[in-house]
Amino acid sequence: MPNFSKTLIQWQVKHGRHGLPWQASEIGIRDAYRVWLSEIMLQQTQVSAVIPYYEKFLQRFPTIATLAAASQDDVMQYWAGLGYYARARNLHRAAQQVVELHGGIFPDDFETIHALPGIGRSTAAAISAFAFGKRAAILDGNVKRVFARHFGVHGDVKSKPVTDLLWAIAESELPKNNIEATIGSYTQGLMDLGATLCVRSRPACLLCPVQKTCIAKRDGLTAALPGRSAKREVPHREIQMLVVIDSGQVLLQKRPPTGIWGGLWSLPECAVGVNALEAAQNQFAINAKKAKKLATVDHGFTHFSLSIFPVEIQVVSKQPRAMEPGLIWLDLVELENVALPAPVKKILLKLGAAS
Ligand code: ADE
Repeated sequence: MPNFSKTLIQWQVKHGRHGLPWQASEIGIRDAYRVWLSEIMLQQTQVSAVIPYYEKFLQRFPTIATLAAASQDDVMQYWAGLGYYARARNLHRAAQQVVELHGGIFPDDFETIHALPGIGRSTAAAISAFAFGKRAAILDGNVKRVFARHFGVHGDVKSKPVTDLLWAIAESELPKNNIEATIGSYTQGLMDLGATLCVRSRPACLLCPVQKTCIAKRDGLTAALPGRSAKREVPHREIQMLVVIDSGQVLLQKRPPTGIWGGLWSLPECAVGVNALEAAQNQFAINAKKAKKLATVDHGFTHFSLSIFPVEIQVVSKQPRAMEPGLIWLDLVELENVALPAPVKKILLKLGAAS
């Protein structure tokens, strides 16, 4: 039987993705900070969306030390729009730990990498492989799909027994020889296969390097694998956002450090059904006359979907600007200068364009 890892490595070298900004000219030993940053950005986010963020982030924070020394606001500003903001908060904390505990040098040992905030088992393995040429098994969502199909693993891939089995496969299929020279291509090959050919629907099996040994292909099971749990309905939430405007400036409120959009600047909120004008007047001691409903914005999170009902509230007379901490007035022409959640930015851009 042809060897899975050998076939995959040969395919990656010839047909895989090369020349991504975090890859050196060819896959070999690479700068750990860049590898780490790219792997965190690439969690849950596609390559094409990541590239511009990655480049701007690296320009602003070229080393772990500059990242560690930055304020959280500054870091969040460069992450704003990428989503899953806990990634940025953990990245920042991890950079500070690397400085405090490891003298600013990114650790090269799997367990030490894994112990940093925001670095799970698969990400620690990807960094170990790409940055240090070490033998370590990855298993993200795409790779689970590749293994479940190729090795004919049935059952819910999110369940513990199936996940355990897939990890065991991931470990046992790792290349065994010449690791430093091959582990990068093997690891990237798994990712590339999952992202480009062995995709969720209508996989391109005829182009697949390991089609001859794939159980799902043999048995016509590519649509059935990977198995999933009964589809859960994601809950739906609705919220009003207060778009308080005074002389071309909008009132923003800092989100609590954890939770949805943690650490970002957002619009103040109130429950649907509440009188938005009164809520704004009571919360911010402003003098406003009328409220105007703006277009609804829908946004999807992993665990729920959100409908935002923005309400524009024009302040009547210029307000005193002594503000509580956690509130700022931002010029509508300066939206680029603060970390805003994507749907909030959308609401404000529309407003800026209309005024
Ligand atoms: N997704 C996660 N890591 C990746 C990588 N190194 N290249 C492409 N896609 C990825």
